[in-house]
Amino acid sequence: MTIRNAVESDLDTIHTLIAEQSINTVTRERYDEYLGVGYYRHNWTWVVEQDGRIIALAVWWGMPQFDHPFSIDGLYYAGDGDPVPVWADLIRHALDSIPAEAEQPEYHIFLPNGWREQPDVVAALEPRLAAAAQAGLPALTERLRYEWLPAYGLPVRSSRLRFEPADDEAFLQVFVRVIEGSLDASTARAVARGGAEASAKEDLEIYREMPGERDWWRLAYDEAGELVGFVVPSANNGGPVIGYVGVLPEHRGHGYADDLLAEGTHLLAETGAGQIRADTDLTNRPMAASFERLGYRNHSIRMVASHPIA
Ligand SMILES: CC(C)(COP(=O)(O)OP(=O)(O)OC[C@H]1O[C@@H](n2cnc3c(N)ncnc32)[C@H](O)[C@@H]1OP(=O)(O)O)[C@@H](O)C(=O)NCCC(=O)NCCS
Repeated sequence: MTIRNAVESDLDTIHTLIAEQSINTVTRERYDEYLGVGYYRHNWTWVVEQDGRIIALAVWWGMPQFDHPFSIDGLYYAGDGDPVPVWADLIRHALDSIPAEAEQPEYHIFLPNGWREQPDVVAALEPRLAAAAQAGLPALTERLRYEWLPAYGLPVRSSRLRFEPADDEAFLQVFVRVIEGSLDASTARAVARGGAEASAKEDLEIYREMPGERDWWRLAYDEAGELVGFVVPSANNGGPVIGYVGVLPEHRGHGYADDLLAEGTHLLAETGAGQIRADTDLTNRPMAASFERLGYRNHSIRMVASHPIA
């Protein structure tokens, strides 16, 4: 059994394997399109070969401007027997190629709401999560995926906060301050790894690299002129997103998340957004409640397998 990167001549086999979508994000159309633009690459796609035949495949996704992939988009198996140890080897092999200082790799799986009551989904999910855990990604975070469509109506814009653009240094300061008491699991992991400042820098860097416009970002001030929080409207390769909403710890509990989210939604709608997406951890109840109050609808779940908190 050998593990190697995919090559051009594997394409037919890869197309055959991904035709059976299961709970994977990859589709034939997405694969071909992303391969062309650098979100997928042959050297971010790994196969297991046995007796000259490909028996397993892992497709990783990453940002075109980065040197390393960030998340697994699909795991496939065409061998006999248990896929778990084969997938675990495949994932470990990829993880070994990603340096410690790169963004921490994850496995994202998109699931329908109520997936626990769907035996076929559970049967597809369990071996994949088991393989991820064996390979070093045992921590699980369920994230609620929200969507806003123009048909849901625009939320009322804040009359108590003033919004202003600001430079990276000012955003870095607020990114650092909102980390305190955050209920977001990936923030907790990043802080445990390198501290609040490093985590904030990493976030800033990631949001800057996203396809959204940097000048959409806003700091928010109350009537007394005090800084209250910020919103990062942005976009990923799926379209417009609310990247981040943060309220400074001393201003929490006044519903300012709603004001920030309303502003971000208006800013994106003004750019012509036909849909806005956003995720938050299932356990981040204040943020989930804010999305729901503002008319965002939860349509599915993102399961994230990652390194454990250090
Ligand atoms: C999530 C967040 C934006 C909520 O902001 P907010 O304006 O304080 O939210 P609300 O005022 O609607 O809070 C509702 C309730 O949750 C509580 N709450 C808010 N944030 C909390 C936190 N981080 N930890 C514990 N409780 C929190 C509030 O005190 C309030 O409690 P109450 O109903 O007993 O008064 C804020 O906690 C935050 O900035 N967190 C860190 C960044 C983050 O997780 N952003 C979302 C990911 S994109």
